[in-house]
Amino acid sequence: MKLQINGEVTDKPAVWWDKNSKFVKMIDQTKIPFQVEVFNCPTYRETVQAIKKMIIRGAPSIGAAAAYGLAQAVDEFWDNEDFEDQIRIAYDELLAARPTAVDLKNGLDFIKSDPLTPEGALNRAQFFADRIAEEGLKIGQIGKDLIKSGMNILTHCHTGALALVDNGSALSPIIQAWEEGKRFHVYVDETRPRFQGRMTAWELNQYGIDHTVICDSASGFFISQGNVDLVILGADRVARNGDIANKIGTYNLALISHYHDIPFYTAFPSSTFDSSTPTGKDIEIEQRDSLEVKQALGYSKILNENHVVSLYTENIKFNNPAFDITPNKFITGYITPHGILDKAELEDIMLNL
Ligand code: MRU
Repeated sequence: MKLQINGEVTDKPAVWWDKNSKFVKMIDQTKIPFQVEVFNCPTYRETVQAIKKMIIRGAPSIGAAAAYGLAQAVDEFWDNEDFEDQIRIAYDELLAARPTAVDLKNGLDFIKSDPLTPEGALNRAQFFADRIAEEGLKIGQIGKDLIKSGMNILTHCHTGALALVDNGSALSPIIQAWEEGKRFHVYVDETRPRFQGRMTAWELNQYGIDHTVICDSASGFFISQGNVDLVILGADRVARNGDIANKIGTYNLALISHYHDIPFYTAFPSSTFDSSTPTGKDIEIEQRDSLEVKQALGYSKILNENHVVSLYTENIKFNNPAFDITPNKFITGYITPHGILDKAELEDIMLNL
């Protein structure tokens, strides 16, 4: 993606391996949209922390970061006598960093699918990351025909280049349709508590795509008023039967769309397939710190920096699940690099990959 970093325009993915320093590097998503900065992870432990703290977000980007992280651990511990123990620890720490996004496990297992050497592990991490970005482009080519001029599209969370190493999942058809000359409008859910909608708005702005940010709780109103023609969003894990785990609030949107007969599509690369999990009920939902609800991170014009403010007084209880499960019966279709699939076709592809 094209970015301006310290005044210089550059083309960077969301996460990459820097050969010279042997650092995993990533665009610091906690700073978007106010600053574009590169975050450095000199060791695999810093890569684990970056994933936990959501410096990198979006299931496929997290998966790529974890794959690079494990390759980094292989390089770090290669000469150690206890190499295998260290790699086991690194694998477990990376896996536990974000439990719902299956791309993370898929990335780690892909690295371990061949005997480990520093060069081999790094090549596989690079391949895994590149394939995600390439599949993002394909998702765009395949999904763009769902979009017609004059439509109002609603999206939730963030699904652009930042979330998918490059190119995007649900945002990819939107971008490609716009670049073909179709003209439409996108409602962007703000996506509390971490406001991933800010990243979506930031990415849509770069293409000049007409959009409006709305509070998550307003989406039902816009749908009920006939102001939404299509819902497209991503997924963090897709069970074999087509149930999806995605950002909290997705289930509400699916139900409302179903009630009002609005097409509801989810778009994702094959790194998000989870053929070993039969249904959504078997997916672990990540529970995040209640501080994410209690506080908000914004940009202070007075301090000229990002700043955390409290939204509540003390002694209040919070509950902060990061994702929810949407059953397959509410999903119109799955936009994948293999085509726009129904749940039977999706299961077939997952089992045959
Ligand atoms: O908690 P996040 O920001 O990592 O969650 C991101 C999402 O839920 C996206 O919708 C998802 O990763 C699918 S699209 C790449």
